[in-house]
Amino acid sequence: MEQEIAITIDGKVAGRVVGCERISDIARFVSEEPEVFVVYDENATWIASEVIAAVPGVRGSIAIDATEEEKSMDTVLLIARSLLEAGASRKALVLAVGGGITTDLAGFAASIYKRGVRYANVPTTLLAQVDAAIGGKTGVNFDDYKNMLGVIVQPLYTFVCADALRTLPRRDFLSGAAELLKTFIIENEDDHYARAVQWLASGNADGQELILAAAAVKAGVVSRDPFEAGERRKLNLGHTFAHAIEHEARQNGDDITHGEAVAMGMILAARLGDALGVSAGLEARLTADFAAVGLPVQCPYPLETLAGAMDKDKKAEEGLVHFILPERIGSVIQRDLTVAEALKALTI
Ligand SMILES: NC(=O)c1ccc[n+]([C@@H]2O[C@H](COP(=O)([O-])OP(=O)(O)OC[C@H]3O[C@@H](n4cnc5c(N)ncnc54)[C@H](O)[C@@H]3O)[C@@H](O)[C@H]2O)c1
Repeated sequence: MEQEIAITIDGKVAGRVVGCERISDIARFVSEEPEVFVVYDENATWIASEVIAAVPGVRGSIAIDATEEEKSMDTVLLIARSLLEAGASRKALVLAVGGGITTDLAGFAASIYKRGVRYANVPTTLLAQVDAAIGGKTGVNFDDYKNMLGVIVQPLYTFVCADALRTLPRRDFLSGAAELLKTFIIENEDDHYARAVQWLASGNADGQELILAAAAVKAGVVSRDPFEAGERRKLNLGHTFAHAIEHEARQNGDDITHGEAVAMGMILAARLGDALGVSAGLEARLTADFAAVGLPVQCPYPLETLAGAMDKDKKAEEGLVHFILPERIGSVIQRDLTVAEALKALTI
């Protein structure tokens, strides 16, 4: 049984998140499409093959190397050229099959090809299923800046198929687990957060219900604030610290995934919240839960070294950084602080 969640912008359905049991189930939704072009991650070739076998309108496909280095304008141009060579018209539907790198790249390429054709996502990582492939943020890295060039255009569909995660390496799975937990720290209906900790710690296979619940939270936030004018900022919980941690990791040649940085960043956000009296005891709770799940909990860099990177964070405006702080599981608030004020609170 498929489950559908609509993303509604200004009263109109802008896209849908569809929960599917099998990858071939997506064919039902795109069977009338005359021109489908598949952009897929080489490491998700088996999923792309199932999509291509099931969808009748596939006219072409291109494999990409899904790395942050290749998440670039060069790859966007490669995709655009392959669309052109395959004769893609303005009726084309680009189908992205892969993790967040692939869906960001393919969505951006589709959104500028012939001034924009539609795209849909088949996310193949947990992170993309609950976050990256929902909400329409697309783009590429430029110079040393992550996601510096891009547009916000909603995908027609995001197909969430539990089956697609079958071959995802454990570390990439855990990276997505951090974003899943983040979602439920922001909104926690039906005790989803505690259930997610239990699911992730137990190593059971079937998490489709929780994945779709997290996808629904993101879809709801995006519907209310598609262009990040306000509420959508709360999805940045842990990310101000995470971006600084990722920056330090790059400087030091350390290997830290985005989700690992987000996990450590959320713990720092909880520590800041506890220090400012926004929350009580949350740092200890998140530390215990994340450790149980197998996520790293201790930031390897001194707080002072994170400060410079945070100052440069693109979310800093007029010297103030928008910190998203958890009040409790299921509720976050925004506090605008200078980096110096945050550091002082964290080190007292
Ligand atoms: N657009 C947004 O709103 C948004 C939100 C969060 C993150 N992002 C972006 O998403 C990217 C990270 O995405 P990600 O974590 O999904 O990672 P990813 O796309 O880098 O994939 C992670 C790794 O898993 C491999 N892989 C993917 N699916 C697989 C499968 N089913 N089996 C085996 N291997 C598989 C990939 O080849 C890659 O090596 C970043 O570039 C980030 O900027 C975007």
